[in-house]
Amino acid sequence: MKRFLLSALPLVISLLSFSALRAEDGSRLWLPSDTSVFKSLTLRLDNSMPADDGYRINGNVVTARTQQGLLYGRYAWLRGEQGESHPYFSLRILNHWDNLDGSIERGYAGPSIFWAEGVEGFPGGTSTITRYAEACASIGINGSVLNNVNASPKMLTRAYLLKVKTIADLLRPWGIKVYLSVNFGSPKALGATKTADPLDRNVQRWWQRKAQEIYKLIPDFGGFLVKANSEGQPGPFDYGRSHADGANMLADALKPFGGIVMWRSFVYGAKHKGEDRVMQAVSEFAGLDGQFRDNVILQSKNGPLDFQPREPYAPIFDQMKKTTQMAELQITQEYLGQGEHLAYLAPMWKEFFSFVAPSKLKGIAGVANVGLDRNWCGHHFAQANWYAFGRLAWNPALSSEEIAKEWLKQTFFYGEKSSEKTAAEANSSLFTLHSSLLSMMLRSREACVDYMMPLGLHHIFKFDHHMGPEPDGFKADYPIEWCPVYYHKADKWGIGFNRSTHNTEMPGAENGTGATQQYREPYCKLYDSPSTCPEQYLLWFHHLPWTYRMLSGRTLWEELQFRYNRGVGEVEDFVRIWQEARPYIDAQRWQEVDAKLQTHLRDAREWRDVCLKYFGSFAEDSKSK
Ligand code: GCU
Repeated sequence: MKRFLLSALPLVISLLSFSALRAEDGSRLWLPSDTSVFKSLTLRLDNSMPADDGYRINGNVVTARTQQGLLYGRYAWLRGEQGESHPYFSLRILNHWDNLDGSIERGYAGPSIFWAEGVEGFPGGTSTITRYAEACASIGINGSVLNNVNASPKMLTRAYLLKVKTIADLLRPWGIKVYLSVNFGSPKALGATKTADPLDRNVQRWWQRKAQEIYKLIPDFGGFLVKANSEGQPGPFDYGRSHADGANMLADALKPFGGIVMWRSFVYGAKHKGEDRVMQAVSEFAGLDGQFRDNVILQSKNGPLDFQPREPYAPIFDQMKKTTQMAELQITQEYLGQGEHLAYLAPMWKEFFSFVAPSKLKGIAGVANVGLDRNWCGHHFAQANWYAFGRLAWNPALSSEEIAKEWLKQTFFYGEKSSEKTAAEANSSLFTLHSSLLSMMLRSREACVDYMMPLGLHHIFKFDHHMGPEPDGFKADYPIEWCPVYYHKADKWGIGFNRSTHNTEMPGAENGTGATQQYREPYCKLYDSPSTCPEQYLLWFHHLPWTYRMLSGRTLWEELQFRYNRGVGEVEDFVRIWQEARPYIDAQRWQEVDAKLQTHLRDAREWRDVCLKYFGSFAEDSKSK
């Protein structure tokens, strides 16, 4: 009998999973479809717990010091957690790049859930906002910047602030504070002052009064996020003032109410025009270290350029020693296939944390991938990136694998009784399926690097929209930092951007920019020489001949071909894995992901073919020399 039960186990497990094949359109996310699952739980407040929103789970009893902790604990219990857990970062914030007309900058999942032309109502109703809040809270996110960093001054007008109050009231029960991106030129643009000079008394008074107005409506308002003097946005430089002058003026206005200023270091093309773009943040900010108020936080992207599939970490994290810092990660896949490619981003963010210790950061911000689409994120697997961001903000020590497993189970295998691996289950097709989906997710970001930009190549995207390859991209009337040819510098002698302290001994090659010197040791030295630079960053830091010998024994040109092909091969395998998953996945989501994977594969081949053809036109030429 026992033997029979054991041999029948895989079947039982499969049946359980089939019973979970209810119709799904992705709108449920990873959440339970009804809250009755929490009934069996006992919730207890306990003042002796550490003073944060952590929780302790013991069987079906959740204990926390705060109501918020109990809320987090309920969802953690649902994930199967036991024991005690506390949030690592105090700021766990989504940045929505939503415009007030309802469009979303770099959004690939439909229009905004917050905004539409005019200030009345919400495009998806208040229930969408509440469901969004629940999803955020379930993974510990505790802040939301409601509008684009390229902010409209209109955001601070009374009519819009009243709407922000409504949103804040909807998010508050879920422990989510609202923040706003502000346009530095707002008082002037709105006609209230003649200037936006941060040292002007009238300007300062305007911001102070604005802060008062906001806090009267929203007593727990979080603060401002600011993009200043970057990509055409106004800022303190317009008046001969520094970033510190600008940030401190806003910080002083918010200080009486406990608000913070998140001042972005994503700046280029203003003061240090002409300098290597990846160096400009350090050039602008290093000298200001120690000059910021204590409620200013410098927010920097993980890499020094702009959310490429792989970048070395941004050295500003090394340089600012007396300034509170937070990292900005991009959840929306602007440069990773947008709404079409399956790219699980936790491995990329973990890579960043391996260079920049989480202990150096006060928080992390994630540029959201949420829109009005039925499935919220455009691609069903893009939900995993929203999920992973929240989980890493709570605990950056979690592995990419742990997070992916949690997400898969709650999203696709919801209703399964157990994920424990028993001897019988190990042989079951369901277990194999879990492993292959997991492996697909874990390999997907590296695959993207391979078929888009192996060996440290970067920014060879089509202009403006950043989808697809354009290695020959050059427009005389565009800033050179937007042109692909500026980044790869391919010619018949070689390829890559020399950012070392050495000059390249090749005809026509540019001198090294010395960007390696912005890094702390040992990276400063390691990155400076091609022989010690990790190959994944080789062409980011060095300009090398096509015949350069790689660790594999291949020439640089052969290695590029190998990696582009490897990337495409990976996507072919993802397509195969998904075909095999068909019996276990509900029809709608299976078909939608399948359609996306077909596009993904077509795009990966396009990247490979276009790039190899273009680079090959130089590399093959060099061979015949
Ligand atoms: C990128 C992105 C822009 C965005 C900018 C920023 O350049 O393409 O859309 O505004 O980053 O982060 O400010």
